[in-house]
Amino acid sequence: MVEFNPNWYKKFIEKSNEKNLLINKVSELLDGKPKNSCLEIGLGISPYFAKELSKLFNRYVIIEREVFNGEIPENVELIQANWEDKKIDKKFDVIVASHVIYYFRNKKKALEKMLASLNKDGRIFFVVNGSTADYGHLKLAFSKMLDIKYQFTYDELKKLLQGTNFKEYTLPSIINFKNYDELHEILKLSFDTYPKEYVKFKPKIIEYFKKNVRGKKFVIDQKIFEVIL
Ligand SMILES: C[S@@+](CC[C@H](N)C(=O)[O-])C[C@H]1O[C@@H](n2cnc3c(N)ncnc32)[C@H](O)[C@@H]1O
Repeated sequence: MVEFNPNWYKKFIEKSNEKNLLINKVSELLDGKPKNSCLEIGLGISPYFAKELSKLFNRYVIIEREVFNGEIPENVELIQANWEDKKIDKKFDVIVASHVIYYFRNKKKALEKMLASLNKDGRIFFVVNGSTADYGHLKLAFSKMLDIKYQFTYDELKKLLQGTNFKEYTLPSIINFKNYDELHEILKLSFDTYPKEYVKFKPKIIEYFKKNVRGKKFVIDQKIFEVIL
């Protein structure tokens, strides 16, 4: 199981504009669609999605694996549980699973369970990092350093979604950084499957940044998959 590191997540989120981009796009895609109930899987360290999206729904539930002691909006129900084990008694119109699928033990089963938990005409919004832009190129360069074949969760998810009715959207998000040392720190979260190697190869990664990342911006293509039942 991949551990989620809240400190690395915080460092990353503070320097990225991705949450606003994603929330605006999901809100736009929900316009005119059934919005009685929403389930969000994997909260992170702050209810970014719930703060905005819960205003659109009568019932808004979050399932988060870890203990969360922060504040959540009044009308939001927070359940501390692992999605892969939790029994669900009611179905939802919408499920939001943003940057959480990486952590599932069995992605296929977790995804099937989401599909089975949707009402008719319901939709799931998956968000994952794409395999393109600066992020994709860096991952491929890193996998060469390690001499491994890297599989993007993006490709894995797309394969798992074959046979479903889905649309794909790309939102380039930007990370602002002061220097390459800081960029290496900010991106730690994205390498949480290889934390030791990411530190070991830091000099090589910094060399890579110098040659390939222009200006003080690093682009990650955010991929939204909208699955419609
Ligand atoms: C990278 S954060 C993403 C948070 C937020 N959705 C976002 O897009 O920024 C992943 C979160 O999912 C939670 N998580 C991981 N696996 C989970 C599971 N099986 N069930 C529920 N939550 C899970 C982690 O504890 C963490 O809070």
